[in-house]
Amino acid sequence: MCGIVGYVGYREATKVLIDGLSRLEYRGYDSAGVAVLNGSGLKVERAVGRLNNLAIKLKEHPLTGTLGIGHTRWATHGVPSERNAHPHSSQDGSVSLIHNGIIENYRELKAELQAKGVEFKSETDTECMAHLVADCYSGDLLKALHAALTRAHLRGGNALVVAHKNHPDQVVCVRRGSPLVIGIGKDENFVASDVTALLPYTRRVIFLGEGELASVSRSGAKVYDENLKEIPAHVETTDLSIEAAEKGGFEHFMLKEIHEQPTAIEATLRGRVADSHIDLRELNLDPARLKQVKRIQLIACGTSLYSAMVGKYLFEHFTRIPTETSSASEYRYAEPVIDKDCLVIAVSQSGETADTLEALRLAKAAGAQSISICNVMGSSIPRLCDATLYTRAGPEIGVASTKAYVTQLVGFIMLAAGLGRIVGATTEAAERTLVNGLKQLPEQVKKLLDSDIVGVKRCAKRYQSVFNFMYIGRHFNFPTALEGALKLKEISYIHAEGYAGGEMKHGPLALVEGTFPTIAIAPKGKTREKMISNIQEIKARKGVVVVVATEGDQEARELADYLIEIPECLEELSPVLAVVPLQLLAYYTATQLGRDVDKPRNLAKSVTVE
Ligand code: F6R
Repeated sequence: MCGIVGYVGYREATKVLIDGLSRLEYRGYDSAGVAVLNGSGLKVERAVGRLNNLAIKLKEHPLTGTLGIGHTRWATHGVPSERNAHPHSSQDGSVSLIHNGIIENYRELKAELQAKGVEFKSETDTECMAHLVADCYSGDLLKALHAALTRAHLRGGNALVVAHKNHPDQVVCVRRGSPLVIGIGKDENFVASDVTALLPYTRRVIFLGEGELASVSRSGAKVYDENLKEIPAHVETTDLSIEAAEKGGFEHFMLKEIHEQPTAIEATLRGRVADSHIDLRELNLDPARLKQVKRIQLIACGTSLYSAMVGKYLFEHFTRIPTETSSASEYRYAEPVIDKDCLVIAVSQSGETADTLEALRLAKAAGAQSISICNVMGSSIPRLCDATLYTRAGPEIGVASTKAYVTQLVGFIMLAAGLGRIVGATTEAAERTLVNGLKQLPEQVKKLLDSDIVGVKRCAKRYQSVFNFMYIGRHFNFPTALEGALKLKEISYIHAEGYAGGEMKHGPLALVEGTFPTIAIAPKGKTREKMISNIQEIKARKGVVVVVATEGDQEARELADYLIEIPECLEELSPVLAVVPLQLLAYYTATQLGRDVDKPRNLAKSVTVE
């Protein structure tokens, strides 16, 4: 949430900043701004709305200089407006800074500064830090940032990057709860909130650790701990490619990412499924400790929460250990019962979601074992966990999660069956069957993507002017209904609800009438017959039903107004296949309505505020 870029080198900074921000725009797109240092001091340009508005302004009023900082915002405090856009500057204009996160105690800080005569120009929480750094400055920028942090007793997750008019070869930064990565180039160096911003320039990176500060100059970067003691900087080479962070000929990242699902699943399975068993040795799990687990708690948000809901069914199916799923934002305040016999699994694409991170911290503090399922290597959630199963979906840039979701499902299947074997609840034969099924998934998703698009497009066209949708499913595919509804509402802005099929008769059936569409997820499995009954109940009330069923299901064909067929698979694998047409349905409905699919209104990726 909020994209940050800093540059010190020999190129025109604005070019690097705008280019970097364009790769980070998915993190926020309410407003954007840059500050560039040149002979006449720090010059700031900001614009409300998309990054392109800023780019146009910069064309009209170019800023020259080879050091700069840039930001793309997702508003937290203060409406999206030019004066609330970052960078924010100190009263005398000597300091400019950019920020990702929330300063929870900013009101106290602001009051303190105002009492000293500081005039605030914005409604943001960020601005107080610009004034504080200026106030603490006496020639050393890093010390000034450190002193400002000490004075501020910042509450909340934050990342800050600071430039000063007296320092033509230095930007300083700190990571406190929100990610920051430093890019190492030749005679130029970078700071960014995400490695994707750096890929055109360098693949050599330093991931700042929690609480660490850094000083970045043209010739290098130095890293410091929270006491300002210099510590060794670990330079890594990222294996992400620039192509992975670009659209590759697709109209939207979301569509590209939907089409990447076969390879993402394949990559997530690689090395983890052998001939007849699941091999999770890379996680270094301790079987003796796992055998003590009495309860499993799954925590996540949004789409990841829905994969965790499938995870609950999978864990109970394969391990017979009682499992609960909680929305991370609820978990923290629900007084969860946690002890050392509890295994907590945190699920997150970004690895930075503030609610999930805080819930995980709570569980760890209470002594729980912890595992994460995560897509971003080295992000905060895996760093906190005893073990991580990385989904290998590659960068997910569309705000609506797609390939991360299916790879999380695959991660859950492997983890649940692997744990099932350790605790003796899964038989070798069941594991063999599962492995066979898993291996077929990439090809089956590919087939689905190749075959069903026309039907889904037609369906999207037919129902694009409907205001409400119902999605229903049971057991493994109840979360599929929730996820299908979420995809539709977040990118098309059409209201959609996900419901357990069996619950329809307890209330929502009252909504059904001639024009009301229900998407019923009814693949082969033990709940199929019950789903068919639910569909019949809707048809009897003249409702419209789009049915997602297993290929060759004649009864579903006869009942459906639209039939979407998925390949035959094991019941526990069906959520992986059933969600794909629902992603496409949401995508084509949204594009036909002219929505900005990759950047839906009011949202941003990687939610680093609570
Ligand atoms: C919806 C979506 C969000 C995220 C949620 C959690 O399409 O992408 O609901 O799933 O914000 O994010 P992560 O998985 O990064 O923790």
